[in-house]
Amino acid sequence: MAGGLAAVILAAGKSTRMVTDLPKVLHEVCGRPMLAYVLEACRKVGVEKILVVIGYRKDDVIAAFAGQDDIIWIEQTEQHGTGHAVMMCEQELRKGGWQDTLVLCGDGPLISDKVLGTVVEKHRTENASATLATSVLEDPAGYGRIVRDAYGNLQGIVEQSDCTPEQKNIKEINPSYYCFHTHHLLDALHNVRPNNVKNEYYLTDALHIMIARGLKAVAITAVASEDVISVNSRQQLALVSKVMQDRIQENLMSHGVTIVDPSNTWIDARAQIGQDTTVYPFTYIHGNVKIGRQCSVGPFAYLREGTVLADNVVVGVFTEIKKAVFGAGTRVRHLSYVGDTTTGLNVNIGAGSLIANFDGKQIQPTEIGDNAYIGNGAILVAPLQVPPGAQVDPGSVVYGKTHETNRRGE
Ligand code: UD1
Ligand code: CA
Repeated sequence: MAGGLAAVILAAGKSTRMVTDLPKVLHEVCGRPMLAYVLEACRKVGVEKILVVIGYRKDDVIAAFAGQDDIIWIEQTEQHGTGHAVMMCEQELRKGGWQDTLVLCGDGPLISDKVLGTVVEKHRTENASATLATSVLEDPAGYGRIVRDAYGNLQGIVEQSDCTPEQKNIKEINPSYYCFHTHHLLDALHNVRPNNVKNEYYLTDALHIMIARGLKAVAITAVASEDVISVNSRQQLALVSKVMQDRIQENLMSHGVTIVDPSNTWIDARAQIGQDTTVYPFTYIHGNVKIGRQCSVGPFAYLREGTVLADNVVVGVFTEIKKAVFGAGTRVRHLSYVGDTTTGLNVNIGAGSLIANFDGKQIQPTEIGDNAYIGNGAILVAPLQVPPGAQVDPGSVVYGKTHETNRRGE
């Protein structure tokens, strides 16, 4: 289809510097594998098919993204460089007939769809063969340097290991955000040779070849320095996670969520939080968690996968909530564990109450009806249904098998 857009994401490397058995792109950043962010950015700018180049433990990578039909998995059995990795996609790219192809790295989850959109737009308005976004860094060490002529025209990219001493001082670098004319790229890649220090086929050399052939190559300085960091080590994983966490919180705050102490709060990328909810310090929200409006969460709350809080819910200090669905006005103010539990409206779960949802073999559900009142220190043993309006005395152990309240000592 003329005019179509595909993407190639490079993700075959084993990543020695991470010291890991897990494929690098499956390491999580704020709760999601880093590759998920790159895929999402591609989709947001209208990419039709995403070719992901994988190698090391490829089946695990494929399994992690099962059911995402716009992905074509491409195997690169031996890693001979970024240019070689793109060449593995040649057949699919030619067959697909997409006019342009983005080339991105799977280890750069901070990629922004806004910058990517700018690159694609520039590429098309300039009618370019290659367009890349660059960034200017105070410390450019480790990155490919952008070489321009006296007029500012792009001449090429030189890898750090191949730089002359003067080139090492160049602060404009290549974050690996490219858009290429598909056929011009593939044709150039055929002529790339591994004549560099690492003996690899460099994608960046294809750019030199395109420029030498008189094709138009454009570089726009568009990437914020903090967005450049890619993950090559655990230290960078932590750094990238911090930047991502700031973005997540920034977005929530701009939608009316109060986060009292952002640097002491951790919120998963998948979490949703409603307007006028306040999140107090030392709160950890992990997984697909939905929180309604005007809720109060924390301090020291731990909300886990599958938790859904309606409006006006209070989850207070030292509480762990797992896969629980709370009706509006429900309160769990202090020191509780509530798992696999559904509550109606205005349920009160007193301090130190626990849901015993696991009998050693199976996890069982608990339902608590509207306006029920669970006294301090009660233990509700699942499976259990607490009727609406029920009062459970402090310190009771309530067994569900008989579906009635058995007070301790009776
Ligand atoms: C690359 C760029 C460099 C840029 C930097 C930005 C080249 C030659 N250099 O360098 O200009 O500044 O990214 O982060 O492109 N991969 C494969 N198969 C391979 C080799 C690599 O899939 O055979 C994947 C890796 O898993 C990784 C990505 O490609 O996700 C980038 O490879 P990496 O070796 O990290 O490139 P850099 O040396 O960082
Ligand atoms: Ca890298």
